[in-house]
Amino acid sequence: MSASTRRSVIKGTGSALPRTRVSNADLAKRVDTTDEWIVERTGIKFRHIAEDDETTSSLAIEAADKAMKAAGISGADIDLIIVATATPDQTFPATATIVQDALGSNGCVAFDVAAVCSGFLYALSVADSMIRVGSVQNALVIGAETFSRILDWEDRGTCVLFGDGAGAIVLAAEQGENGILATRLHADGAHNQLLYVDGGAGTTGTVGKLRMKGREVFRHAVVNLSSVLKEVLDEAGESIDNVDWVVPHQANARILDATAKKLNLAPEKVIKTVDMHANTSAASVPLALDTAVRDGRIKAGDLLVLEAMGGGFTWGASVIRY
Ligand code: UT7
Repeated sequence: MSASTRRSVIKGTGSALPRTRVSNADLAKRVDTTDEWIVERTGIKFRHIAEDDETTSSLAIEAADKAMKAAGISGADIDLIIVATATPDQTFPATATIVQDALGSNGCVAFDVAAVCSGFLYALSVADSMIRVGSVQNALVIGAETFSRILDWEDRGTCVLFGDGAGAIVLAAEQGENGILATRLHADGAHNQLLYVDGGAGTTGTVGKLRMKGREVFRHAVVNLSSVLKEVLDEAGESIDNVDWVVPHQANARILDATAKKLNLAPEKVIKTVDMHANTSAASVPLALDTAVRDGRIKAGDLLVLEAMGGGFTWGASVIRY
């Protein structure tokens, strides 16, 4: 690839978590579960749950603000804001417009993307395309969720698995070897009833609650994630041995371990935050990315693979030279 290729480079990352952290033991006081079951089946120890004054947009704004500070730019420099979320503040307007107004980026392009847990990968791909064709110089790509508001707190099979949070990155157009090298996205609507919400603005007129056939989702996740990882690495012309870090969607530690095993990938190359954040849907990949950037594991020049799979089903992966 020529050094003059226009690419989308990550210039800053940020994240935000609600104030209240809830342990498995705290949950066991509300539903029929145990710390032992949750840790053994999922690897989750804690999740953060939004209080009444914390919303998807407030978390998104905090994460975006930190990412912009890390990138050394201000709201006026942003040309595009995409918020990946399945839990927008309201059915409309797009949460991205609320974020835009708070950041002082008024006038730029702003919209939401709905691809549930893969939303951040979908948003990343759209932003990358707009940057590469030259219509955007600086983009904010945000994953933000308050899944606690769509959980059925009587259903122990789902309510223990999810948490709230947000992660954000600033992407900027640069010429060179760094940046997003390849992205692959997929969806298969034949499985849209394995993980869904039983309500909606256009059907019941209510928000609904999350429903999941966990065991079937698990099986599909391992197959789809390992195949899209191979596909995207092929497209980037890279081998799995050259990858420094895989930054996966954080649904279940067993899915991360099984996928790494299927790909012959050393488990210590996989960034794991599921123990501290649980499954934060579209926020989980940028939250994990920001965690590993700020604790010094991910360094300039590292080869990263971001990947996710979620309701729809939707899934995708991206290869990035950081
Ligand atoms: O983000 C989108 C992608 N989402 C995912 O990737 C989630 C994928 N699925 C999973 O992570 C796992 O399937 C779960 C963690 C959801 C469930 O683990 P599992 O090993 O597949 O358990 P299971 O659903 O087959 O349930 C096993 C047992 C059942 O009891 P019986 O029928 O064997 O007596 C459940 O009733 O565990 C029971 N169980 C619980 N027990 C204690 C289910 N939830 C709980 C709970 N505490 N919270």
